[in-house]
Order: sequence, then structure tokens, then C-alpha cells
Amino acid sequence: MTSPPLIDCRDSLPSGETPQAFAGRALNEMTGRLGGSRILHIAGQIKAMQAEGHDIANFTVGDFSPKEFRVPERLSADFAAALSRGETNYPPAVGLPEVRQAVANLYERELGLKYNPDSVIMGSGARPPIYATAALVVEPGDRMLFGIPSWNNPYYVQINSAQAVAVPTGPESDFLLTADTIAPHLDGVTLLCLNSPLNPCGTAFSEEQLGAICDVVLTENATRATKGERPIMVMYDQVYWMLCFGDTKHHTPVSVRPEMAPYTIFVDAISKSFAATGLRVGWAVVPEALAPSYKALIGHMGAWAPRPAQVATALLLNDPDAITAYHATMKNDVEQRLRALHDGFTAMGGRGLPVRSIAPQGAIYLSVHFDVLNRSWEGRTLSSDDDVRTFLLEGAGIGLVPFQAFGLTEDTGWMRFSVGAVSMDDIEAGLHRIEQSLCQLS
Ligand SMILES: Cc1ncc(COP(=O)(O)O)c(C=O)c1O
Repeated sequence: MTSPPLIDCRDSLPSGETPQAFAGRALNEMTGRLGGSRILHIAGQIKAMQAEGHDIANFTVGDFSPKEFRVPERLSADFAAALSRGETNYPPAVGLPEVRQAVANLYERELGLKYNPDSVIMGSGARPPIYATAALVVEPGDRMLFGIPSWNNPYYVQINSAQAVAVPTGPESDFLLTADTIAPHLDGVTLLCLNSPLNPCGTAFSEEQLGAICDVVLTENATRATKGERPIMVMYDQVYWMLCFGDTKHHTPVSVRPEMAPYTIFVDAISKSFAATGLRVGWAVVPEALAPSYKALIGHMGAWAPRPAQVATALLLNDPDAITAYHATMKNDVEQRLRALHDGFTAMGGRGLPVRSIAPQGAIYLSVHFDVLNRSWEGRTLSSDDDVRTFLLEGAGIGLVPFQAFGLTEDTGWMRFSVGAVSMDDIEAGLHRIEQSLCQLS
């Protein structure tokens, strides 16, 4: 075959225009406000340092390294079998019936919640269900309430031209929203975004905390119903719910207050619970009355999970023994890493160093506080969290993410450690280097 004459389309712009000017003219107003992910920016910086030969322990990305964490064996085997059988055509837009049924079975078996499979809307990971929820619930100008720090909510506010009600949280509530902190901010809110266990903090709602938040929502919704006003819908992002440690138990709005069923939209995925971020299987479980609208939107988004991944997920979710066996190792390995870090920081604190962490409760994250603002390192004053991050990166070879990447505006010294891509050896060596670096501060 002869190749066609080559037209060079790289860097093409109308004459005389800069890329920024052209993007501003060609795309809508919302795109100008949409920021890129700060975490990915930091991860890129670390990759560049690694490429230059620096030894960096990467605690940044909320992902798993397949070197440390594999997906369940039956998930890969069933995926491969489905692919070679020819399961390669379009699945239904809302997901294969067997995977929707398997999610309903899982929620009944493990969470005590009975839903029809019609309530289950599959997507390529948890993000499309989150995107669809914001797009279906929020009108431009509506208010979306979420705690800070939290993961990615501001982007969905921007995409939907909504208004953010970003409620600050602190270590006294393990960085979780409380009934008291949300109650004064409910005016005009149509979507309350909750996440437990919480990214970035690795903390989880207790039954009492979540119940009190639900009571506030139920009271507000009862008043709104009498006035014919739109209710507050709760998006409950529970992508880490199978990764709870020690005495921590996972609770849901509907299990603590069954009256929350009409107002609760669950968002979930195999991404974190089965270290399967690249297989792209997620779902929403929604009140059945809302399902047709999800079906309409998600069908047009075309953001469905690959068919062989749905087939394999259905088989896994229907196999409680395989799940238990997998988590016996995988959860243990995550918890061991988080505890080693927490114990290490607690011991450093005991030796008088300015660091402490919150005991791990769930997810793959640890909240760590470096009380080093305004201290100096190699003649430089650490005057912001980004300075602290750079000090730990350049001084200790540790990559981590400050809470600013999760919406915090002030500098507090709180950082997220993520353990999905590190070994126990990395942790041991990293703790040693952090201690040495902290000792160099003046
Ligand atoms: C709280 C939370 N929800 C949702 C997601 C997205 O999950 P997925 O990769 O399945 O889209 C993430 C990913 O980091 C997350 O931390």
C-alpha cells in the first residue's frame, strides 16, 4: 500500500494565534476554569527525578503498583477467558445484566441493602457514575457541598458550572464532615458529596457521625418536601469500603438511616478494593426512580466498562470465598504498610521530632502532619506546604501530596501518604531518611 502524502497537523493553529488564545476562542467558558490534577503534576515531577537516577519512594499516587498488589487471580483468569471467547461487542449501556445482579447480590450480602439490579448503573470505573450524578442532580448555579480536604469534588463543580460549598474539616474530626459543620450551609445545596473511607485521609465515618449528618439531611428534606423544593441528594462515594482496618466498620447512609434510601446515590468500583484501577469497572447504585435518567445519560457518554471486565467482575462479586481469600492477603498488606508508617511517625514524635499521623482506619492513605513551617533547611525557610513537600522530596527522597491538592487553601503541614505503590523495604528506608532530614532542620 502506498502511503498518502503527509499533512503535518502538529501544533496547528489559525495564523497569528497562540495556543491559549485559540483554546479560549474555540472552547466554552467552563474549560477555562477547569484545572489539571495537581497530584498528576507532582507524580510527573517525581518520574522526571527518577529518570535522572534519584532514588525516590513514591507515596503520591492513589494507585497500586502491580509489583506490590495484583488483582485477584480469578479476575484476571475470567477476564482473559471472556476475551478469548469473543466477549468483545457492545455491552448494554448500563452494564451486563449479570454484573448488575452481582452488585445487587454483593450489597445485599455484605451491606444488608436490598436493591433491584435495575438500580445498578455500570460505568468505566467510579468516575463516570460521579460525573453522571453531578450532571443529573446539579443545575448550573446550584450548590455542591463537600468537605476539604477531599478528592476531586471541585472539578465536578467546575464542569457543571455549580457553586462549591467547601467546608473545612480538621484533625479533631479526623478530617470528616460533621452534622454541626454542614448544618449552617445547606441553603441551595442539591448535592452533598460524602466519601468514606476518605481520600486523602484514610479515616472513616463512625455510625454516630454519619447518622447525625443523615438526620440533618432528612430534616432539611422534610421541610423542602412541604414546599415542593428539590431535595439534597447525597452522593456516597464508597470506593474504599472493603478496605477498612482494625475495629473500623464501614457504614452507609441507608444502613444507619433507612429513610435515606430515596436520597442516596452510591458510587463504587472494583478499582481500589481489588487493586484493579486499570480494568475500569465501577457503578452507581441509585434509587430506582432515577435509573432511567442515568441510563439515558450514561448511554450517550459511552463510558461503559469493557465487556470482558464486566463478565469477570460478575463472577468475582458472586464468589464470596474468592473475595475473602484475596482480602486476607491484600488488605493485610495494605494495613501492614500503613501501620508501619504510623508506628514510625509515632516513634519519631516520641523522640521529639515534629511529626505525627492519624491512626489508619481505611483506604490506602495515611494523614501525616509535619510541624515544620518556618523552620529552615539548607538556608531555605519552609514557608508553605509546597516547600515542605519539596524538602521531603529533595532531602529525603520521599514523594507525597500536600492537602492543598485536595482543596485546602491554607498551609497546615498536613500531607497524604499513599501506600499502593511501595514495599515494606521502601517504607523502612523512607522512614529512616525522613528522620535524618527532620534532624537537619534548624
Ligand atoms: C474517593 C475516590 N472516588 C473515586 C475514585 C475514582 O475511581 P475510579 O478509578 O474507579 O474512577 C477515586 C480515585 O482515586 C477516589 O479516591
